Amino acid sequence: MENPVAKKWSQEVWFAIFTSFLLFFVLFCFDYSTLMAADKGALTPLVNKRENPLVISDNKTGSTGKNSGSDPCAGQYIYIHDLPSRFNSDLLKNCRLLTRGTENSMCPYIENEGLGPLVEDYEGVLSNKSWFSTNQFMLEVIFHNKMMQYRCLAKDSSMASAVFVPFYAGLDVSLRLWDANISMRDSSARDLLNWLSKKPEWKKMWGRDHFMVAGRISWDFRRQTDDTTDWGSKLRFLPESMNMSMLSVEASSWRNDYAIPYPTYFHPSRDSVVFEWQSRMRGRTRPYLFAFAGAPRPDLTNSIRGKVIDQCQTSNSCKFIDCGSVENSCSKPVTVMRVFQSSVYCLQPPGDSYTRRSIFDSILAGCIPVFFHPGTAYSQYVWHFPKNHTKYSVYIPVRDVLKDLTEGSIEKVLLRISKNEEASMREEVIKLIPKIVYADPRSRLETLEDAFDLAVKGIIERVEEVRRVIREGNDPSVGFAEEDSYKYTFSQYNNRG
Ligand SMILES: *[C@@H]1O[C@H](CO)[C@@H](O)[C@H](O)[C@H]1NC(C)=O
Ligand SMILES: *[C@@H]1O[C@H](CO)[C@@H](O)[C@H](O)[C@H]1NC(C)=O
Ligand SMILES: *[C@@H]1O[C@H](CO)[C@@H](O)[C@H](O)[C@H]1NC(C)=O
Ligand SMILES: *[C@@H]1O[C@H](CO)[C@@H](O)[C@H](O)[C@H]1NC(C)=O
Ligand SMILES: *[C@@H]1O[C@H](CO)[C@@H](O)[C@H](O)[C@H]1NC(C)=O
Repeated sequence: MENPVAKKWSQEVWFAIFTSFLLFFVLFCFDYSTLMAADKGALTPLVNKRENPLVISDNKTGSTGKNSGSDPCAGQYIYIHDLPSRFNSDLLKNCRLLTRGTENSMCPYIENEGLGPLVEDYEGVLSNKSWFSTNQFMLEVIFHNKMMQYRCLAKDSSMASAVFVPFYAGLDVSLRLWDANISMRDSSARDLLNWLSKKPEWKKMWGRDHFMVAGRISWDFRRQTDDTTDWGSKLRFLPESMNMSMLSVEASSWRNDYAIPYPTYFHPSRDSVVFEWQSRMRGRTRPYLFAFAGAPRPDLTNSIRGKVIDQCQTSNSCKFIDCGSVENSCSKPVTVMRVFQSSVYCLQPPGDSYTRRSIFDSILAGCIPVFFHPGTAYSQYVWHFPKNHTKYSVYIPVRDVLKDLTEGSIEKVLLRISKNEEASMREEVIKLIPKIVYADPRSRLETLEDAFDLAVKGIIERVEEVRRVIREGNDPSVGFAEEDSYKYTFSQYNNRG
């Protein structure tokens, strides 16, 4: 059993290793997520091995797969929990109730397995039959539908490497985000966790092999106080949930939250549709040097977004799409894609939160993203984007835009980039296209790995690492659900460097 002194000591050793890892990366100037660095620190083998009741002793359970004979699914099995319908499908049945906080009714977005209505009018901009008016909140539905078609589903949970909990967390919380009664806001989260923790699957790893997926940002589930004016539900701070992982469109700074791409409008059903789209984007002429799609916000005039809009509007080579105006509605796939396909660079300043769906629209269009904050992409989509961000994007630190730089500073930075560098970044962006799309759940890409495949790989690897920690006799809770305050501070390292 646990020896409290040994445990404390091992925590201290862990902390020392963790700190030295951080220092190492500070000194050598982060070029990828601090999250990854921190994870490595936590997983460095520690001293003081001891028998741990959580060690998986059954050899076929969650096997590493490398030497498990001929089963092509070895080490990749996922078990889907069969939740009571009130945690998922009932929410879709009652879609009329989900409308709060969105401009349109959510009901039409449910069709086509969560992809939304097929775009009928391509206007020469999109390709046939592969584009849908997809709503970001449907990611949890799309992911669930894709998981039901996953080629390595485990019928028997004992052979699964990870356990998927198909709770429509974002849709559920949207019913209650504005409820002043805190206990009402958290009620379904509590019900779900209560249900989960009573199942036999829970005991196996105390939930550390369980994961959920959400189409909202993680912060919506991380209310830190019980003050009624504080935003969101407490889902991710409830004890059972802290043993689980969540994948969502934007991760918080807690280490058991992981970011996966926002769903775009493009949901190809075959490899050839992707290849054809990629070659079309390679061949585009791009009359605009840069573009920005977003809504100006009066209350954000001094923010980076306000400055970016100013700079775009005063430049002759920038195309601004005003998402605030009705006729230019950015929720129409054609509007945004037409401009992004005609631009070399697409500006992606943080908005209300760090990330934006527009990052992925820009990649789809072969438009090189320009980031202003490391939390917008580099420290988020670590399973999907190359580690070396200079290969596929331009980084302009926020302070360079907000502080002493004169008008046109963004344009000047972009003009300094050579045509060769530009071409090689664009090729890198175009190569990313398959990795950031969610292929149509009703069919399967033949050879390409899509955003879903990479997310599944990422979470299985993560659970496998936890298993290793347990196998080595260490405490899997150390660092698992900790806040990592370095996660979004990339620009500070740049300042120091
Ligand atoms: C797992 O399998 C290996 C090789 O087949 C064997 O040496 C080992 O003892 C097994 N471990 C357990 C816990 O059954
Ligand atoms: C789309 O389909 C129409 C008619 O079916 C065809 O004429 C057109 O060439 C197709 N466009 C693309 C981009 O495949
Ligand atoms: C919140 O709702 C619950 C359940 O309906 C109720 O018991 C409780 O009194 C409410 N709390 C407040 C502060 O209104
Ligand atoms: C979380 O996991 C730890 C083991 O790592 C376990 O002791 C604890 O009971 C779990 N919490 C819940 C609520 O199941
Ligand atoms: C990152 O990519 C750039 C551009 O391709 C290259 O010049 C640089 O050497 C790479 N850095 C690392 C650390 O690989």
